[in-house]
Amino acid sequence: MEQIKISSAEDKASIYRELLPQIESLVSGEDDIIANTANVSAALKQALAYASWVGFYFLKNGELVVGPFQGKVACTRIAIGRGVCGTAAAEKRVVTVPDVSQFPGHIYCDPDSKSEIVVPLLKNGQVFGVLDVDSSVFDSFDSIDAEYLGRVAGIVARRSP
Ligand code: SME
Repeated sequence: MEQIKISSAEDKASIYRELLPQIESLVSGEDDIIANTANVSAALKQALAYASWVGFYFLKNGELVVGPFQGKVACTRIAIGRGVCGTAAAEKRVVTVPDVSQFPGHIYCDPDSKSEIVVPLLKNGQVFGVLDVDSSVFDSFDSIDAEYLGRVAGIVARRSP
């Protein structure tokens, strides 16, 4: 089924404002990173109608390895500096891609993916993974997603070892 793009910035912000306390509550009292990121992936995928894939990659032995996610089968390993995920991890910054075909080195896991946002997970200034959200609609992500997904990444990081 085609995912629907939410065009109103206010709609988007209100979805995130409602979602953040739910995510806080999901992970409160739990410090198992797999359990927390599994539930956070599910919560984001359920709430964001424009998301076709939501998931986490974790840094292991110098590369990103797929963790809990919601969506189609994904690439298992991504080198630091490669693709959107590897770029966000290498540069420790949110990378927003309105049209994935225009991003040099973009890694196609799902051929339906048209736009993407990747947020680094940071603990004490060090990257330990990324949160990746894809959409089957071009230009789905903006500064609202960057801000709120950044907060989600911060919640996850605080609950991680
Ligand atoms: N497109 C990503 C790869 C991961 S998937 O989208 C789930 C990238 O270029 O890093």
